[in-house]
Amino acid sequence: MNKQFDVIVIGGGPGGYIAAIRAAQLGFNVACIDEWKNAKGGPALGGTCTNTGCIPSKALLQSSEYYEHAGKHFSAHGIEVKGLSLDVAKMLGRKDTVVKQNNDGIVYLFKKNKVTFFHGRGSFVAVKDGGYDIQVAGAAEETISGKHVIVATGSSARALPGAPFDEENILSNDGALRMGAVPQKLGLIGSGVIGLEMGSVWRRLGAEVTILEGLPAFLGAVDQQIAKEAYKAFVKQGLKIELGVKVGEITFGKKGVSVAYADAKGQAQTLSVDKLIVSIGRVANTIGLAPEAVGLKLDERGAVVVDDECKTNLPNVWAVGDVVRGPMLAHKAEEEGVAVAERIAGQHGHVDFNTIPWVIYTNPEIAWVGQTEEQLKAAGRAYRAGTFPFMANGRARALGDTTGMVKMLADAGTDEILGVHIVGPFASELIAECVVAMAFRASAEDIARICHAHPSLSEATKEAALAVDKRTLNF
Ligand code: FAD
Ligand code: NAI
Repeated sequence: MNKQFDVIVIGGGPGGYIAAIRAAQLGFNVACIDEWKNAKGGPALGGTCTNTGCIPSKALLQSSEYYEHAGKHFSAHGIEVKGLSLDVAKMLGRKDTVVKQNNDGIVYLFKKNKVTFFHGRGSFVAVKDGGYDIQVAGAAEETISGKHVIVATGSSARALPGAPFDEENILSNDGALRMGAVPQKLGLIGSGVIGLEMGSVWRRLGAEVTILEGLPAFLGAVDQQIAKEAYKAFVKQGLKIELGVKVGEITFGKKGVSVAYADAKGQAQTLSVDKLIVSIGRVANTIGLAPEAVGLKLDERGAVVVDDECKTNLPNVWAVGDVVRGPMLAHKAEEEGVAVAERIAGQHGHVDFNTIPWVIYTNPEIAWVGQTEEQLKAAGRAYRAGTFPFMANGRARALGDTTGMVKMLADAGTDEILGVHIVGPFASELIAECVVAMAFRASAEDIARICHAHPSLSEATKEAALAVDKRTLNF
């Protein structure tokens, strides 16, 4: 007889492993199947986020930022560094250690919560006795059965037609995080989140970086006042960003990669680089899941179709994270995973899609929650905007990083905060206060009346709230 579980989770990324832990906490007998392999062929729990996404990218962003600080910014503090050198292998080794600590952490959490882990590919076999048979194809093959199934199979990098990833010349996020040496010239297609983060890493380490972006606007989904400020900072740092291009044929040989493209004026151009990173978005992972075996419905882009509660078209089959609609973010996947486990337990799991924060971990960092000024205008909503520059913040001056601002948007009538947009130092941390405020439906005045520590960057948030009412104190 097959091993029986209350809940089988397919995928051990942030959506899947968190769903498995929460379901186990709620008293269910839980299995989690994940196929990711480390360099030795062993399991590597944590999915894209841990292995080739959030965690390794932030490790390299940190290391490369230290390198840039030591080379370019320490001297302003009276610290002279002589003989500065770069050991890329060591930097990558540290990143791999950070990844492994996270992989091991999840193994520990599974043991602690008694989640049974299967290393291999999970695929639907059949509906049986009101539940589902799932095949696990790993070192051995077996079929397990579950009353509920949570699909959390994540996403993979989208390739350009005719230019598949070989991770040597044409790189996805995977290859972008493990280049053994700094390329002299690096090209990127797509100036989205990965393009900017990876472009920043390798530029700081010494590469000449050119990003080709298809859209005419830079960071089109971001509040455009914030995006413009960020664009200025990136260009000043030396990132070359060409907007409104149309990418054509991509070829590579011994001399590197050649990208034919039409620039914004329609002129034919060629970009010649040593390596090319393609970061043009991601596609849902459903290949190998055998959704057809049970009739699991996918949309035209291959994502699993779900409703607002992550229910699929099949009873007791749920799907969360990158494999379904919505932003492809680890914390969104986690929230959905927790909510689904709670719904299975008959509770009222909830995800507030209006208060999911976004962070781009460049320097300056870009972070936002809620609606942009462009969205409010398009919706015809009456709003008031308040901005406060870090230039006027004492802590930012002491840090030596005064780029950017906090921008708060509030309803013109009720003063409820509708969106907060930050470009500048530690925006990733500052946004948390704004998420809490929005989750509690706070007004700008609420933030303005709260005591914020001095000197701290968070005072810029308070001042932006005061600015909504045109009464900043320090600007
Ligand atoms: P995944 O993390 O992709 O996990 C899915 C898992 O399922 C994988 O381990 C996969 O191998 C496994 N799997 C797939 N099919 C099967 C199968 N049939 N059987 C068994 N296992 C299977 N998000 C943020 O919020 N912050 C960031 O800073 C951030 N940085 C990023 C940087 C990069 C370079 C990239 C690429 C992404 C980044 N993201 C970030 C996005 C984030 O990684 C994803 O949103 C998140 O990993 C989605 O989680 P998930 O659980 O849905 O899927
Ligand atoms: P993205 O959607 O952020 O950006 C893709 C960019 O490529 C867009 O600007 C798009 O206009 C452009 N593009 C698309 N096709 C193109 C083409 N043919 N030619 C030129 N430009 C083209 O996708 P990206 O950067 O690949 O990242 C994928 C996702 O991973 C992100 O959307 C995000 O959800 C997640 N991520 C999150 C991070 C974070 O939270 N800090 C970090 C990295 C990734």
